[in-house]
Amino acid sequence: MDTQVGIVGAGPAGLLLGHLLARAGIDAVVLEARSRDYVEQRVRAGVLEQGTVDVLTETGVGERLHREGMVHHGLELRFGGVGHRIALSELADGRAITVYGQQEVVKDLIAARLDAGLPIVFESEATTVDVERGVIRFGDDELRCEVIAGCDGFHGVSRAAVPEDALDVYEREYPFAWLGILARAAPSSEELIYTHHDRGFALHSMRSPEITRLYLQVPPDERIEAWPDERIWEELQTRMATADGGFALNEGEIFEKGITPMRSFVAEPMRHGRLFLAGDAAHIVPATGAKGLNLAVADVRVLARGLRDLFERGDEARLDAYSERCLRRVWRVQHFSWWMTQMLHRMTGDPFEAKLQRSQLEYVVRSEAAAKTLAENYVGLELEDV
Ligand code: FAD
Ligand code: DHB
Repeated sequence: MDTQVGIVGAGPAGLLLGHLLARAGIDAVVLEARSRDYVEQRVRAGVLEQGTVDVLTETGVGERLHREGMVHHGLELRFGGVGHRIALSELADGRAITVYGQQEVVKDLIAARLDAGLPIVFESEATTVDVERGVIRFGDDELRCEVIAGCDGFHGVSRAAVPEDALDVYEREYPFAWLGILARAAPSSEELIYTHHDRGFALHSMRSPEITRLYLQVPPDERIEAWPDERIWEELQTRMATADGGFALNEGEIFEKGITPMRSFVAEPMRHGRLFLAGDAAHIVPATGAKGLNLAVADVRVLARGLRDLFERGDEARLDAYSERCLRRVWRVQHFSWWMTQMLHRMTGDPFEAKLQRSQLEYVVRSEAAAKTLAENYVGLELEDV
């Protein structure tokens, strides 16, 4: 098989890139290790930045997102048993976030691609990426490409195809993980609640008027078996309780449970010859800022523009600037995600650190300047502004 752009991975990065290239008349093949069913059921993120919603809308895949997604203009920071609203839209020029599951975005993009008769080769794991020759091997086949887009996530093969001495890696592991659940229960608040508690962080989010998404900070090597449903609810009730007793957390059947490690990771540069890394293949952020999916989308918007210039006019200037252009946003988002993470979690247990955290939280909810910093980063800076 031959194609202009070989895309490894049908996560949000690979699928959106395929979609943007198709609209520009550029030929691409998407290879995906897993089955369609598996990638459509994989539960992950749920917060879409304004810019992510805009690109999906402008390119014709936002219809269900606008019907089913929940637009949020604020969020709550809860600490010391008291909630404080951050008025995101008032603080960030009217911009908002939309709560819509990552796997719903994935379903919409897969449907658009298959409906257009374009190829996604499922259950085809790329085994090697030959950067020099532009060849991706999978099973007994190979795909010859002018450009390779490594959109195969953190554990993929693309990044590993770059010689070690050509990559700088920056990394931090956090001493905790998140246990995430989906429950058949109506959300207990209209907005997201980020809770700081002495026992650890808790987050209330949602997927629909009938489904709540909840997360708990747990030890990094925690086993899911250690968390029967009753323990999860008890811990959530304890961490999220308000001092006035006015908050009632709705409970319901838990139908999905998983543990996600928290890490920061960046590999630079994001290009090696004809290989371009995008999304989690190049960088990971801790989930507290809700940025992983949005950053993947920002990368492929930049990459698609560069590829259009290359294939339409033979102009490589944008592609040459790809890595530097993306990394500016990557580091802004890394900082924001780290900042949210260290402000909201139980870190080392050091009382000095706990006092600093509390001071920071009080400042964020009292100072308009500090709240604005949180808001404009949370709803997402414009592509041009980073
Ligand atoms: P991925 O979504 O990882 O997609 C990569 C794709 O490549 C996958 O479909 C994979 O099967 C495929 N692949 C891998 N190797 C190969 C190969 N060799 N050949 C072919 N295909 C291959 N972010 C948040 O903001 N909030 C959250 O709550 C949150 N929860 C998360 C939970 C988990 C368990 C994980 C792993 C991530 C979570 N994230 C979260 C991060 C967010 O989901 C990611 O940033 C986002 O999925 C990045 O998209 P991507 O397309 O770059 O990578
Ligand atoms: C969700 C995930 C996040 O990482 C976050 O910060 C907020 C919400 C979610 O899955 O809904």
